[in-house]
Amino acid sequence: MSSAAPVTDTDTPPPPLPPLHRLPVTPAQPPHPTTLPDGTPAWLVTRYHDVRQVLGDPRLTRTDLHEVGTAGSTADVAANPASLFNQDGPAHRRLRGTVQKAFTPRAIAGWQPWVAAAVQQAVDALVATGPPADLVSAFTRPVPFAVTTRLMGLDGDGPDHLDERRLRRWTLALLAQGGEPAADHGETLAEFTAFTEELIERRRRAPGPDLVSRLVRAADQDGGIPPDALAFLVLGLTASGNESVTGALGNALAYLLGERPEHWPRLADPGVTEHTAERLLHFIPLGDDEATVRRAAAAVELGGVTIPAGAVVAASIGSANRDPAVHPEGLDADLARPLDAPTLAFSAGPHYCIGAWRVRLEMREALHRLATALPGLRLTVPIDRLDWQLGSTTRSPAALPVSW
Ligand code: HEM
Repeated sequence: MSSAAPVTDTDTPPPPLPPLHRLPVTPAQPPHPTTLPDGTPAWLVTRYHDVRQVLGDPRLTRTDLHEVGTAGSTADVAANPASLFNQDGPAHRRLRGTVQKAFTPRAIAGWQPWVAAAVQQAVDALVATGPPADLVSAFTRPVPFAVTTRLMGLDGDGPDHLDERRLRRWTLALLAQGGEPAADHGETLAEFTAFTEELIERRRRAPGPDLVSRLVRAADQDGGIPPDALAFLVLGLTASGNESVTGALGNALAYLLGERPEHWPRLADPGVTEHTAERLLHFIPLGDDEATVRRAAAAVELGGVTIPAGAVVAASIGSANRDPAVHPEGLDADLARPLDAPTLAFSAGPHYCIGAWRVRLEMREALHRLATALPGLRLTVPIDRLDWQLGSTTRSPAALPVSW
């Protein structure tokens, strides 16, 4: 480490962060060498078809990459070797198979009515309270929290009850990234892990209709699922599942209300909402990190380049989703049009996001019901003046002041 600190002008405030839809991405081009923020040499892959190949190729693994890629501390959600994301090959397939048994299309269809009800309840409360309002505290936080706690069976009384402040504290520890970890970081995560392990034991003894019970039953039937992998799965689905929906909703609302007010009332049409939600998930990233990383277990031909065995490959999903050869229309196009090719926002191949169904469902219900009730909703601060919630893997508005 250098002992000489860089000279900074402390009177000049740092430039405001751009909203995530305006975050610059590396333009699509052939794979080329780069250096990750933590100094690791890597191959940067940016074209849509090349990124799709990286995400789907079993020779590109997550082996020993838990700590690679980010400047400053890496979030526990990415760094924990027990996480589903950090498994490869047979161990990964076994755990995914167990998850798949819990997330059947029938189970997901059964969850839809109460997701819609949770959204409608938040919309009704907002309308009843009247303007002005902050959409983060009144909508983008309570809606995913209601869905998460109902899905995981944490909305009742007794030892399983989870209140929003406790989940928030645990989540901020799990997703903390970049700076120095907080003094009580390890203690907070240990508390969350103990809660999750006890929850799993209670659901094993007395199962219910919730997702935790379904996961425990599937894991026990399949066998061979390490207890720490099951616990980390439940913990991740609860905390980062919840936070990512809050982030996606907040960033989507910032863009729609801040940049596309003419489109907002059109979301009363469910068909328009379906394509709009997909376009927003496709074009607006969840955070500032550019790439997802893999290790080449063997030499791989990629986009006309040979990536040597052992090299780190950094796939930029943001660049791929904006590759003009595949997605000629950018975010500014008509938001009611379907995408030209499937989005890579939820990855592709073995690590495809297991929460994609939940994000799509909640995003559609939320945008459609809010726009139907409040077609005149508008931001009351310029989009360039929004404050951001920082220090974690995701970035989203700290507040969204609105009126109608
Ligand atoms: C807008 C919100 C979300 C986005 C953009 C997103 C995106 C992604 C992406 C890109 C990956 C794979 C990364 C890679 O291949 O390198 C992934 C994996 C994963 N996601 Fe999501 N996600 C979101 C929300 C959620 C939610 C709500 C849940 C849970 C309910 C979830 C659970 C997971 C899990 C468990 C994995 C690991 C899958 C595996 O490794 O097999 N995600 N997500």
